[in-house]
Amino acid sequence: ERIPVICIDGPTASGKGTVAAQVAQQLGYHFLDSGAMYRTAALAAMRAGIAIEAQHEPRLAELARHLPVRFEGGRIWLAGDDITDAIRTEEAGMNASRVSALPAVRQALVALQLGFRRLPGLVADGRDMGTVIFPAAPLKVFLTASAAVRAERRHKQLISKGISATISDLRADLEARDARDASRSASPLKAAEDALLLDNSLLTIDEAVAQVVAWWQARQ
Ligand code: C5P
Repeated sequence: ERIPVICIDGPTASGKGTVAAQVAQQLGYHFLDSGAMYRTAALAAMRAGIAIEAQHEPRLAELARHLPVRFEGGRIWLAGDDITDAIRTEEAGMNASRVSALPAVRQALVALQLGFRRLPGLVADGRDMGTVIFPAAPLKVFLTASAAVRAERRHKQLISKGISATISDLRADLEARDARDASRSASPLKAAEDALLLDNSLLTIDEAVAQVVAWWQARQ
């Protein structure tokens, strides 16, 4: 197939989501926020009263396979509820990390992710886009930033939404989440061998977006 995919993977709060969405917008491509899928699966599990534990893996996978999720105009709907904001909390991120460590749940969401690959192209954001879901993608970027910078940015974001949090708690949370994501056996967080590394610590969003777009244009 000739539908191009740009993968942007990296650790928690590295700015992937924002960068990927803006690259997609500039190129007129579709955008896949795979983290939002895991966050939605975790929320659906909570709502169904299923604890996110390995012993419930088959039920959690079944739920993920039939996840009544819709991505529309930048909003995310779960069975008719707008959950766009509800899945953005720290707790939702941690629950997503726990549910995403279960291989059967990951497997259940593959088809949904592949379905985002449509003309004229796709920008996919996550942890395993370049390593597992779109291994033949012509451009893979691994976007990182120091833990200090990531915690600070997350802190600013939360404060601007009127949510209080300390930088040290946020840093501890994101380091715990990255450690779990990197150490799991199913599709761990890691750079694909052919990924280009982009350290976002000292870049603005615009600079990071421009770099990815420049890499993409250089490959055309
Ligand atoms: O990117 P985001 O913070 O929204 O992702 C939430 C969690 O979902 C991550 O911590 C990770 O455990 C999981 N995830 C994943 N694979 C992806 C995207 C996200 O395991 N492709």
